[in-house]
Amino acid sequence: MSRNKSVNIGLIGAGRIGSFHGETVARRLVDAHLVAIADPAPGAAEKLASALDVDHAYTDVAQLLAQPGLDAVIIATPARFHTNIVVQAAEAGKAIFCEKPMALTLEEADRAIAAARSAEVPLQVGFNRRWDQAFAESHAAIAAGRIGAPQLLRSLTRDPGPFGGDPARIPHWTIFYETLIHDFDTLLWLNAGARATEVYAAADALVRPDAKEKGFLDTAVVTIRFDNGSIAVAEANFSALYGYDIRGEVFGPGGMVTMGDVRRSSMTLFDRHGVTQDTWRRDTEHFAAGYTAQLASFVQAVRKREPVGGPAGEDARRALAIALACIESVREQGPVAVR
Ligand SMILES: NC(=O)c1ccc[n+]([C@@H]2O[C@H](COP(=O)([O-])OP(=O)(O)OC[C@H]3O[C@@H](n4cnc5c(N)ncnc54)[C@H](O)[C@@H]3O)[C@@H](O)[C@H]2O)c1
Repeated sequence: MSRNKSVNIGLIGAGRIGSFHGETVARRLVDAHLVAIADPAPGAAEKLASALDVDHAYTDVAQLLAQPGLDAVIIATPARFHTNIVVQAAEAGKAIFCEKPMALTLEEADRAIAAARSAEVPLQVGFNRRWDQAFAESHAAIAAGRIGAPQLLRSLTRDPGPFGGDPARIPHWTIFYETLIHDFDTLLWLNAGARATEVYAAADALVRPDAKEKGFLDTAVVTIRFDNGSIAVAEANFSALYGYDIRGEVFGPGGMVTMGDVRRSSMTLFDRHGVTQDTWRRDTEHFAAGYTAQLASFVQAVRKREPVGGPAGEDARRALAIALACIESVREQGPVAVR
């Protein structure tokens, strides 16, 4: 591929986030071209392809990977398929952007990393918070030494409520594998160079207590200890009635940085009810700029044949190791060492 050519991308998985990423490539990036979409659900790829003026729609990933001129793929399937598709795409020589979590076991994570390494293809993972302006500026302030070495860290995810999902269709341990995995990556990234050593996780079904017997969990708090002595807390809940609430905080000897705001803008309404502000209701609105910036960065890395500037396979593995320790901690009801 020439350095000036636009990057030809294939989208694998045309569901909720895949559709948004597809639209980003087709409509919001200048150096990328969405050339094909694959999804086994009848009509899903065709429908999105037609909405985005994409010429090729497939039901099979192998057909998409055989598309002539394809440079890169975006993997946005359900989590359990990620590793195999990463390996398949790497073996086909494609650059890879994979949604989180990249894998569900450390063995799978190693397999994905090894496949990308041996094929010498870029592998970036969808930890989009790193691209949010407040999170990026906090990271820069910590890196510049503005608050000194982190002592206390905090990260939280409260999904917008009311919760409308069907607990029976949500895989077990989703709160750790898919929700808090963002917080684990954020904490590792903000606490640069530190290794997580121990976690203690408490989790429950407080939003849908009726589903607890079947193993559903919608609320969790995790304490994480790091080898630099710092301590972090991560928490999540699936039903924040007031909106999509994502926040972080890092405290050190020189001060503190905070990041995240549930208010969607500085517009404030003053009327007979008092003072009100609107809040974020969807991830694709709150993080629209971050989701776009992460794919823009991936595309530049592919174009320039440089290593990805964002989270790579090893970062996904580190966050996964914390999630796996959390699952063990909930089972054991005690602190657990991070592998
Ligand atoms: N980074 C973020 O903020 C963020 C936000 C939402 C979702 N996600 C992640 O993205 C992934 C997808 O989530 P979603 O909410 O879009 O799910 P979804 O269920 O809406 O969409 C998944 C799509 O993948 C398709 N699919 C299933 N198996 C496939 C296969 N083998 N090959 C190709 N397509 C296949 C399904 O038919 C469906 O259309 C999950 O891992 C989720 O954790 C990340």
